[in-house]
Amino acid sequence: MMHASHDGGCQLSIADFCGMATIGNDLSTVAHLLREGRIVAIPTETVYGLAANAFDEGAVLQVFEAKQRPSFDPLIVHVGQQADVHRVARELPPGAQALIDAFWPGPLTLVLPKRDAVPDIVTCGIDTVGVRMPAHPLALQLLHALDFPLAAPSANPFGYVSPTTAQHVADQLGERIPYILDGGPCEVGVESTIIGWEGDRWVLYRPGGIALEAIEAVIGSVADAVKQVLPAAPGMLESHYAPRTPVHVGDIEALLPRFAGKRIGIISFREAHAAHRCVALSERGDLSEAARNLFAALRELDSSDCEVILAERFPEEGLGRAINDRLRRAASR
Ligand code: TXA
Ligand code: MG
Repeated sequence: MMHASHDGGCQLSIADFCGMATIGNDLSTVAHLLREGRIVAIPTETVYGLAANAFDEGAVLQVFEAKQRPSFDPLIVHVGQQADVHRVARELPPGAQALIDAFWPGPLTLVLPKRDAVPDIVTCGIDTVGVRMPAHPLALQLLHALDFPLAAPSANPFGYVSPTTAQHVADQLGERIPYILDGGPCEVGVESTIIGWEGDRWVLYRPGGIALEAIEAVIGSVADAVKQVLPAAPGMLESHYAPRTPVHVGDIEALLPRFAGKRIGIISFREAHAAHRCVALSERGDLSEAARNLFAALRELDSSDCEVILAERFPEEGLGRAINDRLRRAASR
């Protein structure tokens, strides 16, 4: 068990941790656990992450175990200031510094040539590393208190929807980790945009919290990895972010007759539809608000008695691109 003491320190023993994670906001306890080589859940502006000292192989291994994540899916390394990119990356390709200046701290992950200091387990043996500087104030305070960066995937069991509240993390991983740092509901709500430099151009591996249009305004056009033959980013695994309830994406009114007689849950952009359950992600039609509400809505419908989830297709612009990407993967099994 873990006991926070009044002077801000804490005593804990690895061996006797069992039971549910503590949910709280005690940064010194979290920093202490991480220095001891333990893993903890932390808030970021995108989704909650399951964090370990990126330079500690044993700690990173626990992340893979707790998530039941396959060893071929590399982790993103989180740094507390822009200049710390150089602690994990060998060099910055053309445009990288401009992207860092424009978007860090924030939901943009750059895939860069890796330094040897980053253990192979973090990157699953490949020569590049995904790096970002998160914008959540608690994540930044924590990183500033540590002298190492944090490797952190989303804090969900592999393949399931990412968590956007501390309670989401507790529901699924609470018995496997000692502490969940509670930073409230995530403001962005979908994971970071991931881009990588492939010798002569930037390639989009995963649409996310920074709109592609905003990135292209800084570095010019970004190639679409989805159209490539290469299975470049494991973030491109088709069945990812998937609820247990079957999901179908398309025009709601056209889909409805196919599921007549079933308890239907609907995820729509702005309008309510007549169904067993319906969640409109943004009544005012704001794509950022819709992205913020997406994963909570998927979880809510998945844990309800709905037999099928129907989701509307969103405008393919701004954060709509990330929403469509996650819904498409939720629908693929
Ligand atoms: O917003 C986010 O990015 C969240 C928060 C916690 O920071 N993290 C996150 O991590 O979404 P994760 O592990 O769920 O997804 C990271 C994706 C992986 O699917 C992986 O394929 C890709 O990033 N990735 C990491 N390193 C890579 C690399 N070197 N090359 C290509 N893809 C990489
Ligand atoms: Mg994930």
